[in-house]
Amino acid sequence: MKNSPYLYYNWYKMSYQNKKIAEAAEKLKAELSKTDEPQSILRSPLLKSLYAEIPTLDPKERGAFGKEINTLKAELEKLIAARDDEAEALPLIDVTAPFDVNVTSDAQPGLLPTKDGSVHPLMQELDTMLEIFYRMGFEAVESRQIDDEHHMFDTLNFPEGHPARDDFDTFTLHEKDSKGRPLIAPAHTSTMQHRVLKARKADLEDGKPLAVVVPGRVYRNEDLDARHEHTFYQLEGIYISKGVTVGNLMATLKEFMTAYYQKEVEIKTQPFYFPFTEPSFEFAISCPFCDKAGCNVCGEGWIELLGCGLIHPNVLKAAGIDPEIYTGFAWGIGFMRMAMIKYDINDIRYFQSGNLAFLRQFK
Ligand code: DAH
Repeated sequence: MKNSPYLYYNWYKMSYQNKKIAEAAEKLKAELSKTDEPQSILRSPLLKSLYAEIPTLDPKERGAFGKEINTLKAELEKLIAARDDEAEALPLIDVTAPFDVNVTSDAQPGLLPTKDGSVHPLMQELDTMLEIFYRMGFEAVESRQIDDEHHMFDTLNFPEGHPARDDFDTFTLHEKDSKGRPLIAPAHTSTMQHRVLKARKADLEDGKPLAVVVPGRVYRNEDLDARHEHTFYQLEGIYISKGVTVGNLMATLKEFMTAYYQKEVEIKTQPFYFPFTEPSFEFAISCPFCDKAGCNVCGEGWIELLGCGLIHPNVLKAAGIDPEIYTGFAWGIGFMRMAMIKYDINDIRYFQSGNLAFLRQFK
């Protein structure tokens, strides 16, 4: 304990005649005991103000006052040096090592061992969903977290200045695209459609269907509440081949929902508008818990889950796919909501809260 600053503090403890200096000394020493940057005390405005006072004093008092300030400064310097010695006296550690592997486990620092961690519930659900789609012959391509207006709007048949763009209000970056428009945090996973279509159109020419799902994190300028997050997750699906119909779309989604909820569900659609599909639908399933009787999960028996439709010919054309030969369907699911329904989670904000009590229920 020889190097303890507290011992030095007592050792060098000075008393000051001038009340102002005595008070300043107490304050500065208290600050020094708390700061991580001991040297900063010497630049303290309080110390500077004492020095600044010297020329304003009666010439008779100046000498004594100046001397006491110098004594205070010297005391502080000694205390600072003591702090530095203390730091040097600490044992050297390898900051890159999580802990010394040669010590017994009870002597290791209390880090959370990986065996006590777990896969985040959302990612567990995503794995379950992807498994279902893999079994149906889909492949997965992850979406991006920074994208541009070309992929979010232009290639998805949103004309420049079209009001539908306002439904996808998101965050922008300072960096710009080649047309001088700000880069964006994508508001939906549909931003990946154009890339997937271009990359996979050779498959179509080889006579294979294009079947891809795109999981990803998406962003929106939202008023936050139990059902809305500014950052959430979608699972996009794209299927293109010859002679694809709305019937294929509905059958695929019904099969998926039934597999995910492990319960035969009924489906219901109503017309909707998306620029990138024609026709477009909102898609709902019968509540897997109450069989349409109405309950606290669904309200009135049906749960609306996603948007979908047949891919608009302009979207196919933008990627160089001939809409006279090929047709396809696409959908976008907010899969946090699917998991919330499955586990009766009443607030979407739990997922990104880092709340261990919540997370541990899914271990
Ligand atoms: N991107 C839409 C949204 O976030 C959802 C969607 C609707 C995706 C229809 C699709 C689609 O691929 O065909 O609201």
